[in-house]
Amino acid sequence: MKTALITGVTGQDGSFLAEFLLEKGYDVHGTIRRSSVDYRERIAHLEGRPHFHLHYADLGDSMSIMQVVSKVRPDEIYNLAAQSHVQVSFDSPEFTADVDATGVLRVLEAVRLCGLAPTCRIYQASTSELYGKVEEVPQNENTPFHPYSPYAVAKLYGYWIVREYREAYNMFCCSGILFNHESERRGETFVTRKITLAAARIAQGKQEKLYLGNLSSLRDWGYAKDYVECMWLILQHNTPEDFVIATGVQHSVREFCYLAFRHTGIELKFEGEGADEKGICISGPENLVGKTLVEVSSDFYRPTDVVNLWGDPTKARAELGWDPARTPFEQLVKIMVDADMAKVAVERAGDEVRTNLAEYLEKGIVK
Ligand code: NAP
Ligand code: GDD
Repeated sequence: MKTALITGVTGQDGSFLAEFLLEKGYDVHGTIRRSSVDYRERIAHLEGRPHFHLHYADLGDSMSIMQVVSKVRPDEIYNLAAQSHVQVSFDSPEFTADVDATGVLRVLEAVRLCGLAPTCRIYQASTSELYGKVEEVPQNENTPFHPYSPYAVAKLYGYWIVREYREAYNMFCCSGILFNHESERRGETFVTRKITLAAARIAQGKQEKLYLGNLSSLRDWGYAKDYVECMWLILQHNTPEDFVIATGVQHSVREFCYLAFRHTGIELKFEGEGADEKGICISGPENLVGKTLVEVSSDFYRPTDVVNLWGDPTKARAELGWDPARTPFEQLVKIMVDADMAKVAVERAGDEVRTNLAEYLEKGIVK
């Protein structure tokens, strides 16, 4: 039985990867951080299962990393932990650098100092944000980097320190340069999830309007569940190499928004430009027709924004046998909207029960 250590197991990717590796028969260890909230929504269903273990560790704390690596002595490490929100990195640049840059070094050093360099394979969660202010489209493994946020600059260090350890110490460590990947487990402040949740809430009368930033931004969006397989494939390859993982298809935030609303039964028409652009309901529930449901707010503009990400997955397809087209864009949007429609319906049912209960208590029907 192989042993894997996942940093960031509570995140979107970490939770899917843990499920994937357990399915493959791995003994899976994950790192968690102390928090005042003990419920870990994305992995709650795995906790207590055989071969799934959790350890406290923080990427900002080298001793905790050393401890977990020396205790688990993993065959494979998936370093997914990061401050992963680009906009937040402008507000917390130093924390982002500590975790997303120096944190990678801490993992590599822990492996080396524990004497695991010859045996332990390491996957580093790198990102298409490295291409930033893009110098060519689509982007592949040879496209020059131009990071365009504190997050991307920190991740660039992570990318290079992984290469350095590969060359200096002959370690099997690789970066997956992953383009945006989304799912029903995506954090609620990333644009896709923000849209699907708002569309579901608006369709069910729980929200009036959705405010977004740059609607023209272009992304290559895939399904996170497909992408975690690639992380594993990268570590099973016969040589340590870096790979671009993407679908090879590009869409705008506006298109994502249009499709998500359409899937809830609301047809939007976008009018105006830039900060004045609006998404107006042209068909759907009677009470919404004619209403502006989407508006632009400069609160969601970034000091520097990456607007043209489009990946070329040719190498991953050829060398790893990975299929970039497994979950097409429309299906991804549908998966996310369906999940949020169900989530909002459950919330509404809960609200209804609470309201009824309050009324029954007031009338003395129940005591
Ligand atoms: P996510 O949902 O934000 O998860 C991030 C994980 O990192 C969480 O488990 C979080 O723990 C953990 N973490 C944050 N700071 C930490 C620290 N100081 N020490 C230890 N753990 C810490 O991110 P994701 O979407 O799954 O992405 C996984 C990785 O891939 C990240 O490195 C991200 O930068 C990278 N990436 C993501 C995408 C994408 O489109 N999703 C694309 C390219 C690269 P808590 O739950 O305690 O906060
Ligand atoms: N979050 C957010 N919120 N983004 C918005 C909004 C909004 O209201 N309106 C427009 N956008 C635009 C952003 O300006 C950006 O150009 C694009 O939508 C995508 O933003 P995010 O969903 O926040 O993702 P990201 O591309 O910045 O970063 C994600 O993907 C990277 C890979 O390219 C994260 O998962 C990173 O961790 C990852 O490295």
